[in-house]
Amino acid sequence: MFQQLEMAPADPIMGLSAAFKSDANPNKINLSVGVYQDASGQTPVLASVQTAQERVLAAEKTKSYLSIEGSSEYGAAVRELILGVGHEAAERAITVQSPGGTGALRLAGDFLAQHLGDRSVWMSEPTWANHPKIFASAGLRVETYGYFDARANTLDADALLAALGQIPSGHVVLLHGCCHNPTGCDPSPATWRQIAEVAAERGLLPLVDFAYQGFGDGLREDAVGLRALGDAGCELLVASSFSKNFGLYNERVGALTLIGADAEAALRALSHLKIAARTNYSNPPAHGAAIVCEILGDSMLRRQWEGELAEMRERINRVRQRLVARLGEQGVGRDFSFIERQRGMFSFSGLNAEQVEVLREQYAIYIVAGGRINVAGLTEDNLDYFCKAVAAVS
Ligand SMILES: Cc1ncc(COP(=O)(O)O)c(C=O)c1O
Repeated sequence: MFQQLEMAPADPIMGLSAAFKSDANPNKINLSVGVYQDASGQTPVLASVQTAQERVLAAEKTKSYLSIEGSSEYGAAVRELILGVGHEAAERAITVQSPGGTGALRLAGDFLAQHLGDRSVWMSEPTWANHPKIFASAGLRVETYGYFDARANTLDADALLAALGQIPSGHVVLLHGCCHNPTGCDPSPATWRQIAEVAAERGLLPLVDFAYQGFGDGLREDAVGLRALGDAGCELLVASSFSKNFGLYNERVGALTLIGADAEAALRALSHLKIAARTNYSNPPAHGAAIVCEILGDSMLRRQWEGELAEMRERINRVRQRLVARLGEQGVGRDFSFIERQRGMFSFSGLNAEQVEVLREQYAIYIVAGGRINVAGLTEDNLDYFCKAVAAVS
């Protein structure tokens, strides 16, 4: 049976990482996958995570299953992290613990496909390469809305708002909560308020992918869009990931929060989400979420974690500034200053497909086909090599 199968294409991002691993060039640089690296090119376990992990292990008495929706303490901590203390929307919200942000997105996809009938999921053009595949796999129709002004390398807010105004009522709109992947361009707080107004007025269902909270301008600042949607009275879904902001990539820690019109509606939705989880992965992994709970529930650990998160954010922003300065020093004629204004780990570099290919083949620099670079992959050791290579292909 399996002899007839054709080889499937490699994942556009994970596939590049595999090719990078087997590249023998000592100067090789991997700017493809979205994993944070510190100034020495490492992805360390955060000190707050290390301490919390030791405590969790010392207190652990069983490896028995969690409930389908996961820990209620974790759910409450997630809602407070995304909405802030005492937000009205928390009263009409439920949370399901999920295996990573991807698990939360797929859970949302299965739930929407089963219960909301013939509606599309609209996503920005461009978006994270896995987004259309997740929702198509769940059986949903995927459509796109305009988002990015490629010439100016900025968000095209007018195009975005105009597109949202055309999406039929009841359809799902996937929005990146902050640190838009791949462009690094986010709506301003004022634009978020306009987005929320349009969504509420037209009865759209926002699904906020919140994979980088704290990587943009700060934990609270990055949630400004999500809170604007809640303030406007929207029902919405939020897919959180703690892979990046806690560095818990391989522990698979995420959550899907559903904010309903009222608490009753949210509880009814939860009963269906539980079926979607049960028939998919049954119940979530415990360890990573217990670490997140321990950190968020302990004021000292929380302060330490927020400091470590700020350090990651500030390093990325410093690299952005150095990158722009060094490209200038290498005599690259093009104005790359937009890189300093982008937020999060990614930058849409403006490098075209041909340049990306030459960088990979001749310089062993690995970048996703659309020209997205993970700025956090640049260090003092490889920045000059990278800038010289970009100068050579520009
Ligand atoms: C936009 C976006 N959403 C979701 C995810 C998924 O994160 P996780 O590793 O927690 O599944 C990623 C990871 O790269 C991402 O970039």
